[in-house]
Amino acid sequence: MRIDKLISDRVAIRSYEVEDKEFCTDMWFDEENGKYLSDPTKEYLDDVYQEAVDTLQDVDYGYYFVIEDAKDGKRLGTCCAFPDDNGTNIDIGYCINKKYWRNGLATDAVSMLIDWARQQSMKTITAEVAKENAASCGLLKKLGFNVKKETTFKKYNMGIEYDSYIFEYNLEEPAIEEIPVENIGEFWDAHIKYLVEDEIITDEEDIEYFKGLEYRGTIEIHMKRGIDRHHLIYFKEAGKRIGAASYTTYKSEDGKCYILDFWVFPEYRGNGTGHRCFEALKKYTKANGAKYYEINSEKEDSVRFWKSFGFVENGKDEWDMPLFILN
Ligand SMILES: CC(C)(COP(=O)(O)OP(=O)(O)OC[C@H]1O[C@@H](n2cnc3c(N)ncnc32)[C@H](O)[C@@H]1OP(=O)(O)O)[C@@H](O)C(=O)NCCC(=O)NCCS
Repeated sequence: MRIDKLISDRVAIRSYEVEDKEFCTDMWFDEENGKYLSDPTKEYLDDVYQEAVDTLQDVDYGYYFVIEDAKDGKRLGTCCAFPDDNGTNIDIGYCINKKYWRNGLATDAVSMLIDWARQQSMKTITAEVAKENAASCGLLKKLGFNVKKETTFKKYNMGIEYDSYIFEYNLEEPAIEEIPVENIGEFWDAHIKYLVEDEIITDEEDIEYFKGLEYRGTIEIHMKRGIDRHHLIYFKEAGKRIGAASYTTYKSEDGKCYILDFWVFPEYRGNGTGHRCFEALKKYTKANGAKYYEINSEKEDSVRFWKSFGFVENGKDEWDMPLFILN
């Protein structure tokens, strides 16, 4: 199976050609570079395997790709993708030449595969990774994949078996990334920018208060407490942060999830992203004890947004702001 070249700023992904064989096999059969691949090292190659490698360009059960430099076409690595029979899941693999590790190339390439799978209306992407493959596990976690199950795989013909994770990426909803309290600084700047630019706070005095250490300190204390902990999260799609939210679920009370802030970054607005983000937040918080939702809002657009989920007005808060709840 073949594709039209996928191109991003730094890397391009194109179908494998016979001329790529040496570059690919040097990497896959290398002891270090191919350590966690199912391919054998050179000494364990047999005719069956050799034959499979010699026909990669023609296979009809999946895609073999080369990752190259978008500017000069220099080969950087490989990836592959195998759709399931009903077209809902695609299983991927990837390998970057060890000369180029830790430059964000796999991040770029897998992000492109995520976009490509989404364009084909796939629902999920899976990848099997040896548990001890810290680089690959780290990459997938960073991109928003989650462990779906644990299993094992063998290196071909070598009698080596790895315990492995099957990671899954859900293309239908954004992933949630929790922000640890130690990283609040970076989040805070984006948060204040949003509050000001979206005119959630307009009064100079309010802006000063929200920027100040007192408010931030209160949030930090609430993030550290044992019960009814406050959460700051990013929404992520294809490894990119597309929005954020700040909420507390009062599990020690009646399970109210109070959403203090919720926003989609401006460049991702206007195509249902907000809906997908809130649905993702609902699923995530429900799994963690939320029973119903409350938000205060007086901006017309925001009120319309919340009402579209079924939020209904329910009195006012202590600042006389209208409250909305969703049961
Ligand atoms: C896994 C692999 C593809 C990563 O490629 P890469 O281009 O170096 O990855 P990136 O630079 O995009 O790194 C992305 C993230 O992966 C994680 N990561 C990468 N290398 C890591 C390492 N040596 N240790 C721990 N985490 C690592 C980090 O989370 C990193 O994000 P950060 O740089 O923001 O911390 C590469 O190590 C590789 O080709 N390995 C051999 C083949 C392989 O194992 N393929 C996967 C089979 S499942």
